[in-house]
Amino acid sequence: MLWIIIVLLNLLIETSVSLTVVVPPDPIVAHVGSTVTLPCWISPPENAGALEIRWYRQDQFSNPVLLYNHGKIQDIQEESYRNRSSLALRSDQSGGLKDGDVSLRLEKLTFQDEGPFHCYVSGEHSYGSEEVVLKIMALGSTPVLSPESLDDGRVNISCRSSGWYPEPSVSWMSDEGRVLRPGGTSHTRGADEMISVHSWTAVSLSDAQLVSCSVSLRTGELKESSIHIQAICSGSSSPWNALSISLIVLICVLGLIGLILYKYRGKLKGHEEETLADLENRGENTSDHAGTSMSCIVVGDTNIEELRKHAVEITIDRERLHPDLRVSDNCKILRDGSEYKPTGEGFPYELCAYGAQRFTSGRHYWEVELKQANTPPKNFWIIGVVKHGNFTTRDSSALTASAGFWFLCSDGPRGFYTNTDPPVKLSLTPRPERLGVLLDYDHGELSFYNVTERKHLLTISSRFSGSLVPLFNPGAGDQSSIKILDLPKPVEPAEPSQPLLSNTAAVESAVELVY
Ligand SMILES: *[C@@H]1O[C@H](CO)[C@@H](O)[C@H](O)[C@H]1NC(C)=O
Ligand SMILES: *[C@@H]1O[C@H](CO)[C@@H](O)[C@H](O)[C@H]1NC(C)=O
Repeated sequence: MLWIIIVLLNLLIETSVSLTVVVPPDPIVAHVGSTVTLPCWISPPENAGALEIRWYRQDQFSNPVLLYNHGKIQDIQEESYRNRSSLALRSDQSGGLKDGDVSLRLEKLTFQDEGPFHCYVSGEHSYGSEEVVLKIMALGSTPVLSPESLDDGRVNISCRSSGWYPEPSVSWMSDEGRVLRPGGTSHTRGADEMISVHSWTAVSLSDAQLVSCSVSLRTGELKESSIHIQAICSGSSSPWNALSISLIVLICVLGLIGLILYKYRGKLKGHEEETLADLENRGENTSDHAGTSMSCIVVGDTNIEELRKHAVEITIDRERLHPDLRVSDNCKILRDGSEYKPTGEGFPYELCAYGAQRFTSGRHYWEVELKQANTPPKNFWIIGVVKHGNFTTRDSSALTASAGFWFLCSDGPRGFYTNTDPPVKLSLTPRPERLGVLLDYDHGELSFYNVTERKHLLTISSRFSGSLVPLFNPGAGDQSSIKILDLPKPVEPAEPSQPLLSNTAAVESAVELVY
């Protein structure tokens, strides 16, 4: 007993002459993949050049992260820290090793690096040790918002984002800064430890015009996206309320009367035969009213004319074309060559063509036609943008936003999806016949519109860098080709406005009614 006490007393005396090692009281927070310095120093300052400096993880004293001894870094090291640990300065003012700074620098951080690191410094007669806690975090992707109409007239907005660590929180906000209650939020952890989050909220159009979803870490770092609700046009499953139904009936009746009057007038003039073209032309004219009110009476429609103020001329770059693609002389029409032999199952992602124009700022709008006369709308296509200089491959997993690709893909029976992570799947009925693309470089948004239906389909939010070029892929085996349209030059405010775009769906149904 006495002997033990003597030993303990001896130890106490030893520690009283020990080195004092100092570390910051709070955990050090760093992003996965980044480089961090874990500060540790001797106080009062003392030259550490002749001391032993050992950084190690829990219970791994003899298998250290880094060992400095006899004036140099030793070769004994835990394998996973090889080539990515070193001694570093804790600040610019630090005098380094000779002033007792023994901080550890770690590169290429992984989730396994989370937790305590022991900073152990030992001299001939004394030693000191302290613990620095490292917290790893990952800032995920910009959320992707996708709207869906509900039967009760509200819109269910989903917010998805991935690549977070630790678990982020999600908040919804209206344009007036009012907090919206989420209907549900769920987190899923991937095999790589990264966390994906999905949240949804149901809003009515009177609640908010602009809804934003913000995903944030406790550090305050966040990613946010917003969506304009009045720009969502409900499709075939639209929540028609009594008012809109009666309006449709009214429009149909008016259309019928118009058509009968027209036919009657035709008879009076002695034109017995009415060509289909006549019918179509006339239909387009009257449909200006029917089209705008009918397609979007509930949620308000997309102002295509507004978008066209940002119209740019796009042509296909002949120099950077997949060899199995065919392009017209004016560089506007693109299709797959008959000699193309698919190399496997699934979408032919490699069949890409690029626009000759590059964008590094501002807003740019273009339209493509996905259906030509007497052919069904295309089943297979990719429309989007790509960072200049990047080429597509057959491997769809390489076509990510972080690799500089942003697009919407129509993959026949497999439906429509984005290349975001996670992909957003859409059901678009009817199939778009004319697609509008708005690139808002500065706000990091790529939006898609169904031009014929005057409908906003989806906005991909991201952060763009470098120069972006339009991306086109016509798939393989479709009858129709991709045709880049020549849009009317943006009109001056003084001039009369361009004719409104017609809603062909409405026209067709009116024509059917008459037959
Ligand atoms: C460390 O770098 C050396 C030379 O650069 C290399 O041969 C070795 O494979 C690397 N070790 C690890 C674990 O990356
Ligand atoms: C809204 O959509 C999400 C899926 O994105 C779904 O889980 C949720 O049940 C939907 N809410 C309603 C009210 O339909």
